[in-house]
Amino acid sequence: MKKNVAVMGMQWGDEGKGKVIDLLSERAHHIARAQGGNNAGHTIIVQGQEFRFHLIPSGILYPKTKCYIGGGTVIDPAWLLKEMEGLRHHSIHFDKRLFISPYAHVVLPYHRLLDQLSEQKKGKSAIGTTGRGIGPCYVDKVQRMGIRMAELVHPSLLQTRLEKVLGAKNEELKNLYGHSGCSVEEIVREYTEYGKALAPYVAPVEEMLFAASEAGEPILFEGAQGALLDVTFGTYPYVTSSCTLAGGISAGLGFGPSQIGCVLGVTKAYTTRVGNGPFPTEFSTSELALFPDHTSSREIGTTTGRKRRMGWLDAILLRHTICLNGADRLALMKLDILDGIEEIQICVGYKLDGKLIKTFPSTVEELERVVPVYESLPGWKSPTRDIQVYDELPSHAKGYLRKIEQLVNVPISLISVGPDREKTIWMDPIFE
Ligand code: IMP
Repeated sequence: MKKNVAVMGMQWGDEGKGKVIDLLSERAHHIARAQGGNNAGHTIIVQGQEFRFHLIPSGILYPKTKCYIGGGTVIDPAWLLKEMEGLRHHSIHFDKRLFISPYAHVVLPYHRLLDQLSEQKKGKSAIGTTGRGIGPCYVDKVQRMGIRMAELVHPSLLQTRLEKVLGAKNEELKNLYGHSGCSVEEIVREYTEYGKALAPYVAPVEEMLFAASEAGEPILFEGAQGALLDVTFGTYPYVTSSCTLAGGISAGLGFGPSQIGCVLGVTKAYTTRVGNGPFPTEFSTSELALFPDHTSSREIGTTTGRKRRMGWLDAILLRHTICLNGADRLALMKLDILDGIEEIQICVGYKLDGKLIKTFPSTVEELERVVPVYESLPGWKSPTRDIQVYDELPSHAKGYLRKIEQLVNVPISLISVGPDREKTIWMDPIFE
């Protein structure tokens, strides 16, 4: 049990981190997000009410928590304001509880345009991005052409920065995509208003988190996306544009790695992916037919409404992402979705050109060609949704969980059997 906990996605995102973060938020004093933008999405269900979060840490639902959006994130201000409005509508107050780092970069209209136009142009080889401008915003950041929250809240700085960068962006829009481009005046007019509305929330997040850590107050780090979408170690180029691993917490929040504590890896009891790219254990049509439709399996994306691709649990992938994150505990989500399955497959090896391989492939070409080696386990064919303690799980469900722990060599701390907070089996309290 540690003071600070990082909750990280172990697959391609959508593992159910939102629910885990929501559960742990009750015990955390501070909740911080390090990277990504409104490409992420969590749905939280509280007493039958559904809340959708893209930028604001979902821990904001607990009145005593303080929530932080770190310097490594990219913020679309209109989206953030819309999300704030939604919270106000539900009478959730967040003044003096929500803080935004001035170092976070701003997603501007040309980022969204470039994202969508470049995807269209790529045709069949498109990445399948969320189209929210995330990649182009990170491109500008590393090209030193970005605009940060620190500038957004100062209209004169915003104008000066835009005048410096917009020429090049408009050239890109015109020359590559035949688009007429964006105007400095229009962006300044619109974004100055956003800056005014967000200025009260801009704060020295890095120093605040350091002080909280020194005071021994528990901090929860909210990972976004999943390990295999990481820009360096994911299934490149079918990845997002930020570091989605536990190491990204330090880089994105200016928070020293020695203070992170426990890394809780979140995985589904099977695997899903949205967007394009290799997926070794993806279901065949007949396997997919064993499951209820995507709506009842809750496999429609929160952010773009796309159906998620589904497949068997891949222990090779999971062991690899545990390694990339240094995950020391697992949360296993959506066990209930397997309730009706007669025989469950779990991938225990990859064969490439007929030979078992030991290392996770580093190219999508290889990952597309691997043939999964499966072990078959008997299903439990009975509902797990109302079970709250491990001992009451059907023996075959316990067998499945034990098999996973054995294959990946990390203990399962929490099992989820439904979307609501109560549908959770705790194996250890995680936070001190
Ligand atoms: P981008 O982050 O919008 O540039 O999209 C790049 C890839 O990451 C696409 O395959 C997206 O579907 C995927 N992606 C980005 N954010 C998430 C997420 O929160 N969950 C699942 N997939 C995501």
